[in-house]
Amino acid sequence: MQTIDREDETPVLIKHGTRLSRYVLASHPFDVVGWDGWVYPFTFNADDFEPITGTVHQPPPIHLTFCAKGFVLCTFAPRMLDTHPEAIKVPYAHSNVQADEVLYYVRGQFGSRRGVEESSITLHPRGIPHGPHPGTIAASRNMTRTDELAVMVDTVRPLSVTRQALELDDPNYPYSWLD
Ligand SMILES: [Fe+2]
Repeated sequence: MQTIDREDETPVLIKHGTRLSRYVLASHPFDVVGWDGWVYPFTFNADDFEPITGTVHQPPPIHLTFCAKGFVLCTFAPRMLDTHPEAIKVPYAHSNVQADEVLYYVRGQFGSRRGVEESSITLHPRGIPHGPHPGTIAASRNMTRTDELAVMVDTVRPLSVTRQALELDDPNYPYSWLD
C-alpha cells in the first residue's frame, strides 16, 4: 500500500449507492503504515458524556457507551433526572434475563442503592430480580439531578466468580433490600 504522510487539505469522494459526496480532510488519509494486530486501550472521559433525559425514566440504552462482541459497557454519568411531576426517578425493578450485570460505583451518592459506596462492585447474575432499595423512590421525588458516576458491564455469557472475588464478598448485600 502507498503511504502518503501529508498535512494538507485532501478532497475525498465517497460513494453511497449511486451518489457521490465530496469531503475535504485536513490531512491525507493514507498516513497509516499498517495495523500490527494489537488492540490498544481506549480512553473515554465520563465527565464529557451526558445521557439523554426525559419526562419519565429512560431505558438503559441511554447509558450505553461501548458495544462489543459478548458485552456492552454503560456509563451512569451525572445528569438531569426525569421532569414529570409523578416520575419515578430511580431505575425500575428488573431481572436482566439476557445478561450478567457488573457495576462499579466510581463516585457520588447512589440514589437507588443502599449497601454500596464509592469503589463497591456488585454482580447481579441474570434472572435475579432487583431494583430500587426501600425508601429510595420517595427520597428521589424532589431531586432534580444526580451526581453519581458508575460503570456497568453487561455480559452475554454467564460470569464465574473467582476465589479471590469470593474473599471480598459482602454476605449482607443480598439483604440490603430488606427494610
Ligand atoms: Fe440491574
